[in-house]
Amino acid sequence: MDTVAVGIGPEWCVPGRVATSMQSTLELLFQRLRTHHPSSADHCLRVAGLSRAIARRLSLTTQDRSTLFRAALLHDIGKIFVPIEILDFPGPLDAGQRRIVSRHSELGQNLLLDEAPALAQAIAPIVRAHHEWFDGSGYPDGLAQDRIPWLARILCVVDYYDAVTSTRGYRAGLSDGEAMGLIRSECGKKLDPHAVSALQAMPRSCGCRFRLGLS
Ligand SMILES: [Fe+2]
Repeated sequence: MDTVAVGIGPEWCVPGRVATSMQSTLELLFQRLRTHHPSSADHCLRVAGLSRAIARRLSLTTQDRSTLFRAALLHDIGKIFVPIEILDFPGPLDAGQRRIVSRHSELGQNLLLDEAPALAQAIAPIVRAHHEWFDGSGYPDGLAQDRIPWLARILCVVDYYDAVTSTRGYRAGLSDGEAMGLIRSECGKKLDPHAVSALQAMPRSCGCRFRLGLS
């Protein structure tokens, strides 16, 4: 699929049979998400692109870059279990709807462990933890600070940036400046300060570039 091909790039295209089979598994899972809910897949693609750029800025190892990119691409795979009516609900969700949505990180981890164990080994813990907040108020485990995997803390900041800058049916997306203001106010609360610094240090054109789905 051309959009995926544009977005994925070489980070995970390591030569070898195992890598090739992992690549097709990754693509198949991503396509399942796209089939269920295209805008969630687009969100994952943008988050993966920006995560890749931040990983370079943070000088992560090649292996960590690849893991972060793959985890970012599939971080919302558990949303295939969330009904479309809830994903596209035209307003703030009520408590019951929020409870259903909030299961997606655990369900995503379980899906990866069941259907893609080789891929899951590195990325499933990150997928599970991508809604953990730095201060321990997130879900599903209420982990705080360095009990949250480092790559999940990076993913969380990028996910947050894309979420608040995206337009939903009932609200307009924030500008880059507004989003960064909000992110600064959550630094050390919901968001990891080191990961926030890395996002702040990105050239400001990056957000726009990734919002167009380019890499
Ligand atoms: Fe999510």
